[in-house]
Amino acid sequence: MAGHVKHIILDTDPGIDDALAILLALASPEVRLEALTVTMGNCATPQGVNNALSVLELAGATHIPVAPGLDRPLIQPLLTAPETHGSTGLGYARLPPPRQPAASQHAVDLLIERIMAARGEITLVAVAPLTNLALALRREPAIVEAVREVIIMGGAIRHEGNTTPLAEFNVYVDPHAAHIVYHSGLPITLVPLDVTYQCILTQADVDRLLAVDSPITRFVADSTRFYMEFHDEYQGIQGCVINDPLALALTFAPDLVETRPLHVTVDIHSPLSLGKTMADFYGMWAKPPNMQVALNAQPRRFIELFLERIENLARRQS
Ligand code: RIB
Ligand code: CA
Repeated sequence: MAGHVKHIILDTDPGIDDALAILLALASPEVRLEALTVTMGNCATPQGVNNALSVLELAGATHIPVAPGLDRPLIQPLLTAPETHGSTGLGYARLPPPRQPAASQHAVDLLIERIMAARGEITLVAVAPLTNLALALRREPAIVEAVREVIIMGGAIRHEGNTTPLAEFNVYVDPHAAHIVYHSGLPITLVPLDVTYQCILTQADVDRLLAVDSPITRFVADSTRFYMEFHDEYQGIQGCVINDPLALALTFAPDLVETRPLHVTVDIHSPLSLGKTMADFYGMWAKPPNMQVALNAQPRRFIELFLERIENLARRQS
């Protein structure tokens, strides 16, 4: 529907690219960011909550609630990613401690309450391990029919893993949660590494942002500088993969990617391939598709959109 504002809840583990997704949501008039829910992943949950509050403060959006969620996976031991996102979770960026407190409501309760109170209205964008969403499904299965859509950044279908040779980080941190979510019946669009690794933010892109003198552009530069060093050292990539903003952008620009209906599952049994996401392209398992999977993107159109919106947000905030 033209002009329909999407009401979004972002489930996140901020995290550098998570922070970029938060800023993109705030910069996009087509969406209204209703709340952030936080779990562990790129950093521990308390750090992630602080980072989310600080990023909202940076963008003048302290009215948006941040609800703390689970601080460990369902079964796996806690795994965080300081080598990728730095000791604070935001790379080299240093934001003032947040003045706004976190919401008193638990993330699982906020997800259920908000989705059930606005049937058909809430778009959930999940760019973290799926522990919060898995427990919300166990506590209130009716969210499956009540949520408008669920866009999930995670998985590696035909693409190599970024955490093991086969597994993507969000799934590998909590493969059991991913298995629950993937087989729940939720209206899922999956945004795997297959498309996010097409979307590289380069130093030239960051230099363009810095032409706008603003705390927001400096934050993007300082946070992504660490992220680019990681990508160069570990994967030989010049630039950084901005996974989470791509998932967020699909809420208002779904034609940035091509999707296919596929049956997808997650390996939760084999030590070697734990967290591997598998799609049944030829219907060999005779199971119906359980999600739309994005397999091709328009990378430079997305990066240009991202840059334009962050520039506009920075100009408004400078
Ligand atoms: O594998 C990439 C995903 O894991 C992104 O969401 C990143 O922020 C981390 O959470
Ligand atoms: Ca993330």
